[in-house]
Amino acid sequence: MGYQDPGAAEVIRRTTVRMPYLPDAQLAKADRLGGSIVVDPSSPIALRRAAAQMAVQFRRETGYDFAPYDAGEPDGVVVLIPTRRFLIAYGSLIAGAIGIDPTAFYEGLPQPVPRATWVYLHPYERGRAAVTDVWPALAQRWPGLSLAGPFTPAGRALVDRLIEQGQHPTHLGETPIHDIAT
Ligand SMILES: CC(C)(COP(=O)(O)OP(=O)(O)OC[C@H]1O[C@@H](n2cnc3c(N)ncnc32)[C@H](O)[C@@H]1OP(=O)(O)O)[C@@H](O)C(=O)NCCC(=O)NCCS
Repeated sequence: MGYQDPGAAEVIRRTTVRMPYLPDAQLAKADRLGGSIVVDPSSPIALRRAAAQMAVQFRRETGYDFAPYDAGEPDGVVVLIPTRRFLIAYGSLIAGAIGIDPTAFYEGLPQPVPRATWVYLHPYERGRAAVTDVWPALAQRWPGLSLAGPFTPAGRALVDRLIEQGQHPTHLGETPIHDIAT
């Protein structure tokens, strides 16, 4: 379809929220963690592009200054969460992502600790415990994993739920987790 405004297609592209598609052939070679997919800097470009799509949607929704992941210059690890609601044969749609810095340094802490730097779920997948369900497997792979602020209201509610379930540290060193802003 053509648009009278030559810029319309680009605006529509930027306002469309997507679940990226990954074929089973691609997923078969991927590093799996329970039902999730671990994308590291050496993962195939298709996996890194799916992570980047989630990062861009995270930025658009939260107003974060920049997308927290770039497929061309990958930094850290991204765990991709396939949708449990929209099933297709021979592939998966990616509904969520958790960005992880395995070695984050905090003032006052002598050792680096793993940190979840951003969390995003496609709106259709929210309210169904998709993140809390995968978190224990993540905390097993990255012991002490924490989601540190600044928090959105939904992010703060997520941390509170993980703490309630005993899945998340309440403090980093002496500092309560809610007071950690960077
Ligand atoms: C954070 C996120 C992954 C959590 O998804 P989820 O675990 O499925 O949880 P929900 O989004 O359904 O909401 C969890 C709680 O936050 C509340 N909440 C959600 N969005 C909210 C908002 N914009 N303002 C206030 N509260 C909100 C919900 O009412 C719910 O509260 P409840 O547990 O008392 O019912 C998802 O909301 C998301 O991707 N948000 C956009 C990106 C984001 O904010 N990331 C966190 C950065 S710190």
